[in-house]
Amino acid sequence: TPSTLVDRHHRAIRYLRISVTDRCDLRCRYCMAEHMTFLPREAVLSLEELAAIAGRFVDRGVTKIRLTGGEPLVRRNMMTLVEQLGARIGDGLKELTLTTNATRLAHYAAPLAAAGVRRINVSMDSRDPETFRYITRHGDVAQVLDGIAAAQAAGLRVKINMVALRGLNEDEIAPMLAWVAAHGMDLSLIETMPMGVIDEDRADRFLPLPEVLARLKGQFDLVADSYDSGGPARYWRVGGTDSRLGLISPLTNNFCASCNRVRLSTDGRLHMCLGHEDSVDLKAAIRDGGLEAVDAAIDRALAAKPERHDFRIEAGAAPAVSRHMSVTGG
Ligand code: GTP
Ligand code: 5AD
Ligand code: SF4
Repeated sequence: TPSTLVDRHHRAIRYLRISVTDRCDLRCRYCMAEHMTFLPREAVLSLEELAAIAGRFVDRGVTKIRLTGGEPLVRRNMMTLVEQLGARIGDGLKELTLTTNATRLAHYAAPLAAAGVRRINVSMDSRDPETFRYITRHGDVAQVLDGIAAAQAAGLRVKINMVALRGLNEDEIAPMLAWVAAHGMDLSLIETMPMGVIDEDRADRFLPLPEVLARLKGQFDLVADSYDSGGPARYWRVGGTDSRLGLISPLTNNFCASCNRVRLSTDGRLHMCLGHEDSVDLKAAIRDGGLEAVDAAIDRALAAKPERHDFRIEAGAAPAVSRHMSVTGG
């Protein structure tokens, strides 16, 4: 059997994030340009290839898989992949989960729960219909709220992801935390990251999370929490509730020393770090040489995993990496 995955900096890789599609029904302003060119079909891994590669990672010690995008639920026949991966829960895999914009979640919540998914992360940067429409360019927040309700009804634990945007949703952060806590959910705040060219300058909207935390501490009883989801967030417990506030602050607080994850892009490239351009082509490997070639390519990638990313947000600066978050799956 192939060896488990440990990089040169002694970090064990337990978490695989998969971008199942670079497409999305929304166009969030910090994520995408209004007019995007998406990958042609032949460049995209088939669901069979995805299942085979993901299964190999589980064989090699990955215990957590997150399906993301783009919007994972816009990919046709997505549930067949979820069901196949769900069959590995208890057989190496501990957690199968999704990050979704929830526009189609009302339809998928029950089948996801039936396939073994226990919790999901929902991207929702505003609960105000007009602000939500502005940020996403196309979105209807009512659909998202329906999706969240369906997820909770299906027994899924929900975490809301909110990218903190100066002058756009900053006044909604405290009300969002109160709402989330009142509904038995968690909230993660995220700093906007310089990935891919968009139609605006991310520096104009960048909101450092230490500043947000200081403000929230004036309104909530926040207690540092050692909870570790296996993701990059640092957590605070919201006093008097069973909810957590997570902060994902790659710009102001680097968390790379404990990095446990790699990413499989929509076009089958293995990215060892969100903030670097280099990757290894697993699509070519599986198409030319099957799983043995995939193993060899994974080993090559592992040996080259960068120690850290080096994101910076500066007015007028080009993004740190040219690809959009949607291709690499965040
Ligand atoms: P949990 O399992 O709930 O901890 O999820 P998660 O935070 O790992 O996943 P999610 O898809 O909700 O990601 C939230 C945000 O964290 C996204 O914007 C990701 O791009 C970002 N993120 C996840 N891992 C990394 C990382 O290694 N580096 C950076 N810079 N950002 C990351
Ligand atoms: N910076 C920070 N977060 C981003 N997301 C998408 N693009 C960016 C970016 N450039 C977020 C989405 C979603 C998560 C998977 O990634 O809002 O919550
Ligand atoms: Fe779509 Fe998520 Fe990007 Fe918004 S942040 S455009 S919902 S992939």
